[in-house]
Amino acid sequence: MTYSVADFDPAIKGALPSDFQWGYATAATQIEGSWDVDGKGVSIWDKFSQEADIRVDDKSTCKDTCRSYDLFKEDVARMKAYGVTGYRFSFSWTRIIPLGGKDDPINEAGIEFYNKLIDELLANGITPFGTIFHWDTPQTLEDRYGGFLNKEQMVPDFLRYARVCFERFGDRIKNWITVNEPGVFSLAGYAGGAHAPCRSSINEKCKEGDTSREPWLVGHTLLVAHGYACDLYKREFQPTQKGSIMITLSGNWSEPWDAADPKDIEAAERSNQFEIAWFADPLYGKNPEVDYPACMREQLGDRLPHFTEEEKKLIRGSSEYYGMNSYTSFYKRHRDTPAPPEDLKGNVDILDNNKQGQSRGPETDTVWLRSTPWGWGKLLRWIWKRYEMPIYITENGTTAKGEHGWKPQSADDVLEDPFRVEFYKGYLTEVATASQEGVIIKSFFAWSFMDNWEWSNGFTNRFGVTWVDFASAEKKRYAKRSAYFMKDFFNHMIRK
Ligand code: BG6
Repeated sequence: MTYSVADFDPAIKGALPSDFQWGYATAATQIEGSWDVDGKGVSIWDKFSQEADIRVDDKSTCKDTCRSYDLFKEDVARMKAYGVTGYRFSFSWTRIIPLGGKDDPINEAGIEFYNKLIDELLANGITPFGTIFHWDTPQTLEDRYGGFLNKEQMVPDFLRYARVCFERFGDRIKNWITVNEPGVFSLAGYAGGAHAPCRSSINEKCKEGDTSREPWLVGHTLLVAHGYACDLYKREFQPTQKGSIMITLSGNWSEPWDAADPKDIEAAERSNQFEIAWFADPLYGKNPEVDYPACMREQLGDRLPHFTEEEKKLIRGSSEYYGMNSYTSFYKRHRDTPAPPEDLKGNVDILDNNKQGQSRGPETDTVWLRSTPWGWGKLLRWIWKRYEMPIYITENGTTAKGEHGWKPQSADDVLEDPFRVEFYKGYLTEVATASQEGVIIKSFFAWSFMDNWEWSNGFTNRFGVTWVDFASAEKKRYAKRSAYFMKDFFNHMIRK
């Protein structure tokens, strides 16, 4: 045993409200498999992973992943055994509308799959949280007009897809998330180039792209598409379906390298604005003029799109809650040289997040996942103070080196993953104490329910509380100790 219930901090017993939702988050591309089955169309991730083997660390594709398309009933039963109250998953756009466009046909087999999944969740007492767009743009829309680079054509196509989701699933989905992490989609897909559609002028693995402009354009299209989808939902569906709608934003905490240096303090704040306020200010900001943060406008000028009057009205107030995904923290230092056109982070030097050993536990698979609960606590309070919006934590998790070597010996074998248990203990204690201070936090969805296909990391990162044997044809699942820890810890923290 790597933890004991008796050792849980009594100060946070009952810290979370009785209607607090907790569970796990996943995304269609990362778990479903069956990439071309029952009429599903091709997404940019299908193409990205299949056309060139230099793009994914282990040269894998998302053709099979965890085979959840076939095994969803087993997965729901396992989630029930893990004690969750909710499950956040995403709809695959190309399973529902294979070609993606507003005049393209609907695939009834795809609708049927999600109907069965939702019904299975509800039959097991698990509240579904549905993400409409988790990065899987239909390849046809990419080919037709450049996907999210083309706001005029993309927004109506996105809106029709959102409408189909509301019409077909809104009688049972009461918690909608329009877009997952517009920031990561824009930066990794159109700047860093590590993600589909692999457009970048700074990554030689990508063929074309303009890093100085495209990420900002794509981010803008996502925000506008989100705004129109919320407007549609609130006008036509919410009055009868009585659900809520929000967007989920990414953002890791930026801490000044030298806490006594005003320039570093400013650099860290600027970085938080580039990473978080980029989307959050237009959505939730208190400035009556809806715009991107002033420091972004100052650095990027007209490369940062301008909102039309209609967009301003649609976006401000559109998201009913603050959907928050976050993983780690970084130190930032002031930089004296002018920002190059490809700068994405507010012209700062990004430094190690393990200064003075604040990162806890063994080394993680990547520095992006180091355990920094101190920064996570600061981030929760920063968001609350700046926007005063109730927060749904929609993702948080880690990977630890070492899990790859583990092989289960029997069906009952449990991976003792002390690092993940420690990670969640630290982060969740911050959630509990922030909540006790008055920050309104309504959910915690851990990333992730099971090890899955981690985008350009393929199967090299294991994020799950369930270990998956990817070498087996049946993708056998085994519980990790953290799955039981989460159940016990939430049981301790949620008021009866
Ligand atoms: C989030 C995504 O960015 O983090 C997930 O919403 C993703 O889909 C998770 O898998 C972990 O990502 P990464 O890039 O740190 O492996």
